Amino acid sequence: MKRDGDILVDNFGRTVNYIRISVTDRCDFRCVYCMDEEMQFVPRARLLSLEEIADIARAFTELGVGKIRITGGEPLIRRNIVKLFRDIGRLEGLRELVLTTNGSQLPRLAGELQDAGVKRINISLDSLDPDKFRRLTRVGELDKVLAGIDTALATGFEHLKINAVILKNRNDDEVTDLVGFAAARGMDISFIEEMPLGMIGEHDRAEAYYSSDEIKADLERRYTLLPTLDTTGGPSRYYRIVETGTRVGFISPHSHNFCDSCNRVRLTCEGRLLLCLGQEHSVDLRQVIRAHPGDRERLKQALRASMAIKPKGHEFNLAVKPVIFRHMNVTGG
Ligand code: GTP
Ligand code: 5AD
Ligand code: SF4
Repeated sequence: MKRDGDILVDNFGRTVNYIRISVTDRCDFRCVYCMDEEMQFVPRARLLSLEEIADIARAFTELGVGKIRITGGEPLIRRNIVKLFRDIGRLEGLRELVLTTNGSQLPRLAGELQDAGVKRINISLDSLDPDKFRRLTRVGELDKVLAGIDTALATGFEHLKINAVILKNRNDDEVTDLVGFAAARGMDISFIEEMPLGMIGEHDRAEAYYSSDEIKADLERRYTLLPTLDTTGGPSRYYRIVETGTRVGFISPHSHNFCDSCNRVRLTCEGRLLLCLGQEHSVDLRQVIRAHPGDRERLKQALRASMAIKPKGHEFNLAVKPVIFRHMNVTGG
């Protein structure tokens, strides 16, 4: 049961009202900024069950969390995942159930996701060129993702957004085309600066850095961008594109740090509650729920207590080797 005033506030006065849940670290792609070519995935036996994830989600909503994003790895490749969406979609107090996906499974699942209560979907798309797309994802097929986007559009979600990670000399020449693609479909788009999470052998992250300001300057050769105060509760800073009426967002962990307004925590597929994307502070929730099955008050107490160790922010530095060894697929984007 939710009691008034029983909410999650950290030591810096920030209220946590958004949780990102990674339901698997596995993925059908191998994006070069996210994973190394050879990855060890969590053995299935160590994963939280879908029921355990739903219990944790419920405890969070009872503590004032209104936005839940399901992420991965690729969340839609986990078996029976739609059941979790249905269970979470029914939680009292939940304002928004949203999803971040690479899009490959949307032709199969978009309809069921909408029925389960998913309102908004963020779909990753870094290139519109099949060969470049293949090189960036190592194994991904552009056609599948485009089909997924088409299906999602036809299904009629409230809002669809494209996410693109931009790397210098790999896809920085596509930013204007990607905006055109999104706008033609009435979709917003966010450009993300690559973050140093986990060791990757494929490229040097400092050399591949392409800042949000560079992207913005590229776009302004073609479009007029007006700053907005819009927020979705996520880290994007949005601009309205005068010519298209759609929005472009910038997620700029390096050039415009947004930690001061951080409102979120993350749950890994093994049940580790991460208090910051760029730090290791965490609480083992799997241990809590397995030691005290069904004891939601105990779980909520662990969540309240976790606020004391939420760090002030990340300390990403592209000049040194990553200090965070978790790859993004473990962290959940
Ligand atoms: P909206 O609800 O649409 O605003 O989504 P969102 O931007 O919160 O979620 P999405 O899954 O689209 O996130 C896009 C990217 O933003 C993530 O993959 C991360 O790269 C980045 N991001 C999200 N939250 C944080 C954060 O707390 N810190 C940092 N450094 N990056 C974050
Ligand atoms: N830095 C920034 N974004 C990343 N993503 C995956 N790995 C990284 C990284 N190292 C993005 C994906 C997806 C979102 C969930 O996270 O492209 O859009
Ligand atoms: Fe998979 Fe997303 Fe990582 Fe790409 S970024 S490998 S699609 S989890």
